[in-house]
Amino acid sequence: MYNSGFVPIIISDGLVNQESINMTKKRVLTGVTTTGIPHLGNYVGAIRPAIAASHAPDTESFLFLADYHGIIKCHDPEMIHESTQAVAATWLACGLDPEKTTFYRQSDIPEIMELNWILTCITAKGLMNRAHAYKAAVQENLDKGQEDQDHQIEMGLYSYPILMTADILMFNAQEVPVGRDQIQHVEMARDIAGRFNHRFKEVFTLPEVKIDENVELLVGLDGRKMSKSYGNTIPLWENDKKTQKSVNKIITNLKEPGEPKQPDESPLFEIYKAFATPAETAEFTQMLAEGLAWGEAKKMLAAKINAELAEPRERYSALTDNPAQIEDILQAGAQKARKQARVLLDQVRDAVGIRALK
Ligand code: ADP
Ligand code: TRP
Repeated sequence: MYNSGFVPIIISDGLVNQESINMTKKRVLTGVTTTGIPHLGNYVGAIRPAIAASHAPDTESFLFLADYHGIIKCHDPEMIHESTQAVAATWLACGLDPEKTTFYRQSDIPEIMELNWILTCITAKGLMNRAHAYKAAVQENLDKGQEDQDHQIEMGLYSYPILMTADILMFNAQEVPVGRDQIQHVEMARDIAGRFNHRFKEVFTLPEVKIDENVELLVGLDGRKMSKSYGNTIPLWENDKKTQKSVNKIITNLKEPGEPKQPDESPLFEIYKAFATPAETAEFTQMLAEGLAWGEAKKMLAAKINAELAEPRERYSALTDNPAQIEDILQAGAQKARKQARVLLDQVRDAVGIRALK
């Protein structure tokens, strides 16, 4: 089985002296927007590998809730709030150790917003014109025959890559693991960092994007990528019975029990694979070839998912019963993060000429 490295949650009551112990560690940083409730695809593709990586002894991980990015796409306050709690509880329940990582909410670090403005002042407008998300929104207007190509496009969407740059540069991250859709944003962060270093002073590390080839793209109930936008997800945080019900909805063909079946005849095989060892997957392939009934295959799959998530589910429910505990963890993370952010922001302000009069 994939080793997701679950560890108990310990709330910090003191600050760790990061500077002194982490000089040689590689800095890895990634954020998650708070616009939805996590599903199995998010777990397999993002949460499980990031947590496994955060346990590596040679890395120092910064994991955060990108709620200021959330309000760009989502103008439903309840959703933002609910999602912030759900995403935070998900990371913690799945084994994020707030002692070993710096885990925080973007909006709790005002230094990021200050840096965002300074970077806005040195970013070429032309660079933002080329951002995929903005270009896609413009194209949608043009396709609809809108006269104004910027119709209903907000500045938040337009400047989105600058805020993401501030997130990354604030902690001088060396490596930024993201999905393929985010590559351009990390390249822009590199560009902007280089521009600043060149014009003012070598303050920023140039970040590198990390695309993990081994990270699986989980398929959904209908065989397309599992995504909340397609309504084809298996939610993470349901009980065993409901998970079985979701799994029962995975499409299959009409082959009868006893008829040989191939792995590519139903998306359930790919989902099984994400929760099984290679040996178990091979055995499952063999059983299908020997005529395993789809109904039985679905029972085996639900059992696998439920077994891996049993403990995280207990922790998730305890955490969401006590949101104040989550808040405490986030506040401790913010303290840890701000201590570092302040040092860098002071250097940046000084570099651009904003400093005390003496
Ligand atoms: P959604 O497609 O449901 O809106 P997001 O875009 O919010 O999901 O993705 C959050 C994180 O989860 C990203 O890192 C993304 O790469 C990952 N992710 C989302 N769906 C999948 C999937 N089906 N398989 C693997 N990873 C996924
Ligand atoms: N934009 C990213 C996404 O939609 C989330 C994000 C915000 C992020 N800031 C970041 C990712 C900084 C990596 C680094 O998935």
